[in-house]
Amino acid sequence: MLIYLNGKYLDYSQALLPVDERGLQFADGVYEVALVWGGQFVDLDRHLERLERSAQAIELDLPFTRSEIRAVTEELLHRAEMKQAALYLQVTRGVAPRDHRFPAVVQPTVIAYLKDAPVDQGALQHGVKAITVPDLRWLRCDIKSVSLLPNVLARQQAANRGVREALQVRAGVGVTEGSATNIWMVHQGSIVTAPASNWILSGIVRGVVLELAQAEKMPVAERFASAEELMQMDEVFITSTTSFVMPIVEIDGRKVGDGEPGPVTMRLQELYLERLDQIAHATLG
Ligand SMILES: Cc1ncc(COP(=O)(O)O)c(C=O)c1O
Repeated sequence: MLIYLNGKYLDYSQALLPVDERGLQFADGVYEVALVWGGQFVDLDRHLERLERSAQAIELDLPFTRSEIRAVTEELLHRAEMKQAALYLQVTRGVAPRDHRFPAVVQPTVIAYLKDAPVDQGALQHGVKAITVPDLRWLRCDIKSVSLLPNVLARQQAANRGVREALQVRAGVGVTEGSATNIWMVHQGSIVTAPASNWILSGIVRGVVLELAQAEKMPVAERFASAEELMQMDEVFITSTTSFVMPIVEIDGRKVGDGEPGPVTMRLQELYLERLDQIAHATLG
Protein backbone atom coordinates (compact mmCIF):
# COMPACT_ATOMS: atom_id res chain seq x y z
CA MET A 1 0.00 0.00 0.00
CA LEU A 2 1.30 3.40 -1.02
CA ILE A 3 1.11 6.29 1.45
CA TYR A 4 1.64 9.98 0.70
CA LEU A 5 3.24 11.53 3.79
CA ASN A 6 4.49 15.13 3.84
CA GLY A 7 5.62 15.30 0.24
CA LYS A 8 6.82 11.71 -0.18
CA TYR A 9 5.20 8.60 -1.63
CA LEU A 10 6.18 5.76 0.71
CA ASP A 11 5.54 2.11 1.29
CA TYR A 12 3.13 1.54 4.15
CA SER A 13 5.96 0.24 6.39
CA GLN A 14 8.04 3.37 5.75
CA ALA A 15 5.27 5.87 6.55
CA LEU A 16 6.04 6.52 10.22
CA LEU A 17 5.32 9.43 12.56
CA PRO A 18 6.80 10.51 15.93
CA VAL A 19 4.78 9.87 19.09
CA ASP A 20 4.33 13.60 19.74
CA GLU A 21 2.40 14.02 16.50
CA ARG A 22 -0.60 16.14 17.51
CA GLY A 23 -3.06 13.98 15.61
CA LEU A 24 -2.03 11.06 17.80
CA GLN A 25 -1.87 13.00 21.08
CA PHE A 26 -4.79 15.41 20.77
CA ALA A 27 -6.78 14.33 17.68
CA ASP A 28 -5.80 17.84 16.54
CA GLY A 29 -6.66 17.53 12.88
CA VAL A 30 -9.22 17.18 10.13
CA TYR A 31 -9.83 14.69 7.33
CA GLU A 32 -11.80 13.72 4.26
CA VAL A 33 -12.91 10.51 2.58
CA ALA A 34 -13.70 10.71 -1.15
CA LEU A 35 -14.81 8.03 -3.59
CA VAL A 36 -12.99 6.78 -6.67
CA TRP A 37 -15.49 5.29 -9.13
CA GLY A 38 -14.63 3.96 -12.57
CA GLY A 39 -11.09 5.29 -12.08
CA GLN A 40 -12.30 8.86 -11.41
CA PHE A 41 -12.58 10.92 -8.25
CA VAL A 42 -16.18 11.73 -7.38
CA ASP A 43 -16.93 15.27 -6.17
CA LEU A 44 -13.32 15.80 -5.07
CA ASP A 45 -13.73 19.58 -5.19
CA ARG A 46 -16.64 19.44 -2.77
CA HIS A 47 -14.54 17.32 -0.40
CA LEU A 48 -11.57 19.69 -0.66
CA GLU A 49 -13.82 22.65 -0.04
CA ARG A 50 -15.16 20.98 3.13
CA LEU A 51 -11.58 20.17 4.20
CA GLU A 52 -10.75 23.87 3.85
CA ARG A 53 -13.76 24.78 5.98
CA SER A 54 -12.88 22.19 8.64
CA ALA A 55 -9.25 23.37 8.75
CA GLN A 56 -10.32 27.00 9.05
CA ALA A 57 -12.68 26.10 11.90
CA ILE A 58 -9.76 24.68 13.92
CA GLU A 59 -7.38 27.51 12.88
CA LEU A 60 -5.14 25.20 10.88
CA ASP A 61 -3.51 26.67 7.77
CA LEU A 62 -3.48 23.98 5.09
CA PRO A 63 0.07 23.62 3.73
CA PHE A 64 -1.14 23.22 0.12
CA THR A 65 -3.35 24.84 -2.47
CA ARG A 66 -6.33 23.00 -3.89
CA SER A 67 -4.49 22.28 -7.13
CA GLU A 68 -1.42 21.02 -5.27
CA ILE A 69 -3.42 18.52 -3.24
CA ARG A 70 -5.38 17.53 -6.36
CA ALA A 71 -2.06 16.70 -8.02
CA VAL A 72 -1.17 14.46 -5.04
CA THR A 73 -4.46 12.59 -5.29
CA GLU A 74 -4.03 12.15 -9.07
CA GLU A 75 -0.52 10.81 -8.54
CA LEU A 76 -1.77 8.32 -5.93
CA LEU A 77 -4.50 7.15 -8.29
CA HIS A 78 -2.07 6.92 -11.19
CA ARG A 79 0.37 4.83 -9.15
CA ALA A 80 -2.26 2.60 -7.52
CA GLU A 81 -4.18 2.03 -10.78
CA MET A 82 -7.40 1.51 -8.80
CA LYS A 83 -10.81 1.75 -10.46
CA GLN A 84 -12.80 1.73 -7.25
CA ALA A 85 -11.43 2.98 -3.95
CA ALA A 86 -11.74 5.49 -1.13
CA LEU A 87 -9.25 8.32 -0.79
CA TYR A 88 -8.32 9.02 2.83
CA LEU A 89 -6.83 12.49 3.34
CA GLN A 90 -5.82 13.79 6.77
CA VAL A 91 -4.15 16.98 7.91
CA THR A 92 -3.07 17.40 11.52
CA ARG A 93 -1.36 20.33 13.22
CA GLY A 94 1.99 18.54 13.13
CA VAL A 95 4.76 17.36 15.44
CA ALA A 96 5.67 19.36 18.55
CA PRO A 97 6.50 18.70 22.22
CA ARG A 98 3.27 17.91 24.04
CA ASP A 99 1.44 21.09 25.02
CA HIS A 100 -2.27 21.77 24.53
CA ARG A 101 -1.54 25.24 23.12
CA PHE A 102 -0.78 25.55 19.39
CA PRO A 103 2.99 25.34 18.76
CA ALA A 104 4.48 28.68 17.70
CA VAL A 105 6.16 27.06 14.70
CA VAL A 106 4.92 23.80 13.29
CA GLN A 107 4.57 22.07 9.95
CA PRO A 108 1.18 20.33 9.49
CA THR A 109 1.30 16.59 8.81
CA VAL A 110 -0.39 15.57 5.56
CA ILE A 111 -1.35 11.94 4.95
CA ALA A 112 -3.15 10.60 1.88
CA TYR A 113 -3.76 7.10 0.59
CA LEU A 114 -6.22 5.02 -1.36
CA LYS A 115 -7.91 2.05 0.20
CA ASP A 116 -10.29 -0.61 -1.07
CA ALA A 117 -13.95 0.38 -0.82
CA PRO A 118 -16.03 -2.52 -2.10
CA VAL A 119 -19.72 -1.80 -2.66
CA ASP A 120 -22.04 -3.85 -0.46
CA GLN A 121 -24.55 -4.77 -3.17
CA GLY A 122 -26.63 -6.95 -0.82
CA ALA A 123 -26.99 -4.12 1.68
CA LEU A 124 -27.92 -1.61 -1.06
CA GLN A 125 -30.58 -3.96 -2.40
CA HIS A 126 -32.06 -5.44 0.76
CA GLY A 127 -31.24 -2.82 3.38
CA VAL A 128 -29.53 -3.05 6.75
CA LYS A 129 -30.50 -2.87 10.42
CA ALA A 130 -29.72 -0.10 12.89
CA ILE A 131 -30.06 0.82 16.54
CA THR A 132 -30.59 4.21 18.17
CA VAL A 133 -28.01 5.56 20.62
CA PRO A 134 -27.67 8.83 22.53
CA ASP A 135 -25.57 11.39 20.61
CA LEU A 136 -22.63 11.99 22.98
CA ARG A 137 -20.61 14.25 20.68
CA TRP A 138 -19.45 17.85 21.08
CA LEU A 139 -21.12 21.01 19.78
CA ARG A 140 -19.19 21.26 16.47
CA CYS A 141 -20.18 18.10 14.59
CA ASP A 142 -20.02 20.18 11.39
CA ILE A 143 -16.20 20.00 11.54
CA LYS A 144 -14.83 16.79 10.00
CA SER A 145 -12.41 16.31 12.88
CA VAL A 146 -10.27 13.20 13.42
CA SER A 147 -11.61 13.19 16.99
CA LEU A 148 -14.06 10.33 16.44
CA LEU A 149 -14.27 8.58 19.81
CA PRO A 150 -18.05 8.98 20.31
CA ASN A 151 -18.60 7.83 16.71
CA VAL A 152 -16.34 4.83 17.34
CA LEU A 153 -18.24 3.93 20.52
CA ALA A 154 -21.59 4.28 18.75
CA ARG A 155 -20.53 2.12 15.79
CA GLN A 156 -19.14 -0.51 18.17
CA GLN A 157 -22.47 -0.63 20.01
CA ALA A 158 -24.12 -1.32 16.66
CA ALA A 159 -21.57 -4.04 15.91
CA ASN A 160 -22.15 -5.59 19.35
CA ARG A 161 -25.85 -5.81 18.52
CA GLY A 162 -25.08 -7.31 15.12
CA VAL A 163 -26.38 -4.33 13.12
CA ARG A 164 -24.82 -1.93 10.64
CA GLU A 165 -25.31 1.57 11.98
CA ALA A 166 -26.05 3.50 15.17
CA LEU A 167 -28.54 6.34 14.64
CA GLN A 168 -27.74 9.13 17.08
CA VAL A 169 -30.38 11.02 19.02
CA ARG A 170 -29.34 14.29 20.66
CA ALA A 171 -31.21 15.16 23.86
CA GLY A 172 -33.29 18.29 23.27
CA VAL A 173 -32.55 18.29 19.51
CA GLY A 174 -33.75 15.02 17.94
CA VAL A 175 -32.36 12.53 15.44
CA THR A 176 -29.05 13.90 14.18
CA GLU A 177 -27.13 11.37 12.07
CA GLY A 178 -25.47 7.96 12.01
CA SER A 179 -22.01 7.26 13.41
CA ALA A 180 -20.53 7.86 9.94
CA THR A 181 -23.59 8.58 7.78
CA ASN A 182 -26.42 11.09 7.39
CA ILE A 183 -29.98 9.95 8.09
CA TRP A 184 -33.05 10.41 5.96
CA MET A 185 -36.65 9.53 6.72
CA VAL A 186 -39.74 9.34 4.52
CA HIS A 187 -43.30 9.83 5.77
CA GLN A 188 -46.26 9.78 3.37
CA GLY A 189 -43.93 10.61 0.47
CA SER A 190 -42.24 13.56 2.21
CA ILE A 191 -38.54 13.35 2.97
CA VAL A 192 -37.06 14.57 6.26
CA THR A 193 -33.37 15.03 7.06
CA ALA A 194 -31.55 16.95 9.78
CA PRO A 195 -30.62 20.50 8.74
CA ALA A 196 -26.98 21.42 8.04
CA SER A 197 -26.00 22.87 11.42
CA ASN A 198 -23.47 22.34 14.20
CA TRP A 199 -25.29 19.11 15.14
CA ILE A 200 -24.34 17.13 12.02
CA LEU A 201 -21.59 16.70 9.50
CA SER A 202 -23.14 17.97 6.31
CA GLY A 203 -22.27 15.01 4.06
CA ILE A 204 -21.17 15.45 0.48
CA VAL A 205 -23.60 12.69 -0.50
CA ARG A 206 -26.28 14.46 1.57
CA GLY A 207 -25.80 17.55 -0.63
CA VAL A 208 -25.97 15.48 -3.81
CA VAL A 209 -29.09 13.59 -2.68
CA LEU A 210 -30.81 16.89 -1.80
CA GLU A 211 -30.12 18.07 -5.36
CA LEU A 212 -31.38 14.79 -6.85
CA ALA A 213 -34.57 14.93 -4.74
CA GLN A 214 -35.19 18.55 -5.72
CA ALA A 215 -34.68 17.74 -9.42
CA GLU A 216 -37.26 14.94 -9.04
CA LYS A 217 -39.63 17.38 -7.30
CA MET A 218 -39.67 15.21 -4.19
CA PRO A 219 -40.67 17.26 -1.13
CA VAL A 220 -37.82 17.57 1.41
CA ALA A 221 -37.98 19.16 4.86
CA GLU A 222 -34.65 19.88 6.55
CA ARG A 223 -35.62 19.56 10.20
CA PHE A 224 -34.86 17.40 13.23
CA ALA A 225 -37.28 14.50 13.71
CA SER A 226 -37.85 13.16 17.19
CA ALA A 227 -36.88 9.61 18.16
CA GLU A 228 -40.63 8.76 18.36
CA GLU A 229 -41.18 10.05 14.81
CA LEU A 230 -38.24 8.01 13.58
CA MET A 231 -40.01 4.85 14.68
CA GLN A 232 -43.19 5.82 12.75
CA MET A 233 -41.52 6.47 9.39
CA ASP A 234 -42.46 4.60 6.21
CA GLU A 235 -38.84 4.55 5.02
CA VAL A 236 -35.44 5.34 6.53
CA PHE A 237 -32.11 5.46 4.74
CA ILE A 238 -28.55 6.57 5.33
CA THR A 239 -26.07 8.22 2.98
CA SER A 240 -22.30 8.51 2.85
CA THR A 241 -19.37 8.37 0.46
CA THR A 242 -18.90 4.63 1.02
CA SER A 243 -22.52 3.61 1.85
CA PHE A 244 -24.13 5.54 -1.05
CA VAL A 245 -27.93 5.52 -0.48
CA MET A 246 -28.57 2.59 1.83
CA PRO A 247 -32.01 1.49 3.09
CA ILE A 248 -32.54 0.88 6.82
CA VAL A 249 -35.19 -1.82 7.26
CA GLU A 250 -35.14 -2.35 11.01
CA ILE A 251 -34.44 -0.02 13.97
CA ASP A 252 -34.10 -1.25 17.55
CA GLY A 253 -35.59 -4.60 16.51
CA ARG A 254 -38.70 -3.01 14.92
CA LYS A 255 -39.45 -3.06 11.21
CA VAL A 256 -39.32 0.20 9.29
CA GLY A 257 -42.57 0.31 7.25
CA ASP A 258 -43.12 -3.21 5.93
CA GLY A 259 -39.50 -4.15 6.57
CA GLU A 260 -38.48 -3.80 2.91
CA PRO A 261 -36.58 -0.96 1.21
CA GLY A 262 -39.15 1.65 0.13
CA PRO A 263 -39.78 3.28 -3.27
CA VAL A 264 -38.42 6.76 -2.42
CA THR A 265 -35.20 5.28 -1.06
CA MET A 266 -34.72 3.00 -4.05
CA ARG A 267 -35.46 5.78 -6.56
CA LEU A 268 -32.85 8.03 -4.92
CA GLN A 269 -30.39 5.14 -4.81
CA GLU A 270 -30.94 4.53 -8.51
CA LEU A 271 -30.42 8.22 -9.33
CA TYR A 272 -27.30 8.32 -7.17
CA LEU A 273 -25.78 5.26 -8.87
CA GLU A 274 -26.64 6.70 -12.30
CA ARG A 275 -24.85 9.91 -11.35
CA LEU A 276 -21.75 7.95 -10.26
CA ASP A 277 -21.68 6.21 -13.62
CA GLN A 278 -22.14 9.51 -15.45
CA ILE A 279 -19.15 10.97 -13.60
CA ALA A 280 -17.00 7.92 -14.41
CA HIS A 281 -17.93 8.06 -18.10
CA ALA A 282 -17.94 11.83 -18.60
CA THR A 283 -14.34 12.18 -17.53
CA LEU A 284 -13.25 9.00 -19.26
CA GLY A 285 -14.52 10.15 -22.66
C1 LIG B 1 -20.49 11.75 11.21
C2 LIG B 1 -20.66 11.63 9.73
N1 LIG B 1 -21.80 12.07 9.17
C3 LIG B 1 -22.01 11.98 7.85
C4 LIG B 1 -21.07 11.42 7.00
C5 LIG B 1 -21.34 11.33 5.54
O1 LIG B 1 -20.55 12.27 4.84
P1 LIG B 1 -20.17 12.08 3.31
O2 LIG B 1 -21.46 12.02 2.55
O3 LIG B 1 -19.39 13.31 2.99
O4 LIG B 1 -19.38 10.82 3.19
C6 LIG B 1 -19.86 10.97 7.54
C7 LIG B 1 -18.85 10.40 6.66
O5 LIG B 1 -17.89 9.79 7.07
C8 LIG B 1 -19.64 11.08 8.94
O6 LIG B 1 -18.52 10.65 9.51
